Amino acid sequence: MTEPVTHRDNAPDPAERKAPPRQLTLNVLRYDPRNPSVAPHLQAYKVEEADSMTLFIALSEIREHQDPTLQFDFVCRAGICGSCAMMVNGRPRLACRTLTASLPDESTLAPLPFFELIGDLSVNTGKWMRGMSERLETWLHAQEKELDLRRVEERMDPDLAEQIYELDRCVECGCCVAACGTAQMREDFVGAVGFGKIARFRLDPRDERSDDDFYAVIGDDTGVFGCMSLLACHDVCPKSLPLQTQISFLRRKLATVG
Ligand code: SF4
Ligand code: SF4
Ligand code: FES
Repeated sequence: MTEPVTHRDNAPDPAERKAPPRQLTLNVLRYDPRNPSVAPHLQAYKVEEADSMTLFIALSEIREHQDPTLQFDFVCRAGICGSCAMMVNGRPRLACRTLTASLPDESTLAPLPFFELIGDLSVNTGKWMRGMSERLETWLHAQEKELDLRRVEERMDPDLAEQIYELDRCVECGCCVAACGTAQMREDFVGAVGFGKIARFRLDPRDERSDDDFYAVIGDDTGVFGCMSLLACHDVCPKSLPLQTQISFLRRKLATVG
């Protein structure tokens, strides 16, 4: 005869009981350039960790339930818009792609250096990216052809299209520039993001620019010859772009020009 199952038999094994959620402490560097009378300072926030929580979710909880004045940026929450980049324990990262499980109990958050500060963790990467883009002319340079709406699209080798697509995955988050030693020393440096753009248009057979033309925009110390090749950019790029390969390739190619 089998023993009757009792309530006590169904009770979870104490060893299997879930540990209580972790309390995270986020020390946020706060400063509002429109209110310079309040000096930059660290403000500590506590938040209870949840399953699969990202740093973006933790910051949103803080802003919703504790402090509506906390400034940080986001749009897509999926690693696509590049707007949530910030310094997390001294390293540039996307908040929406950073699981709190990868962080210690206490972390320090700061805005990306180099870019214009809007407030707290929010910086104006868009303004800098636009200036870089205009300076490097990061668009297709092709002779105007007569508009023919019935013309068949030009064909492109799939492998080449794949290489171009790979470089087009840049989300202009600014992490590579924030990590770059040269960019911290000279504000006119185009950064790895700029090299990636040039590499992309250099590959594109529709762009009629020559290496002489590319040399004219990045062939000096503000460009590829100012790069110290320590490759922090490559290490922090959240899209894992092949920055190391592109920088060394561009440098080799442009060293024979001019
Ligand atoms: S190259 Fe990488 S790190 Fe730099 S802006 Fe693009 S995605 Fe961000
Ligand atoms: S390798 Fe060049 S672009 Fe990349 S972080 Fe170093 S100096 Fe900056
Ligand atoms: S919110 Fe768009 S990349 Fe993080």
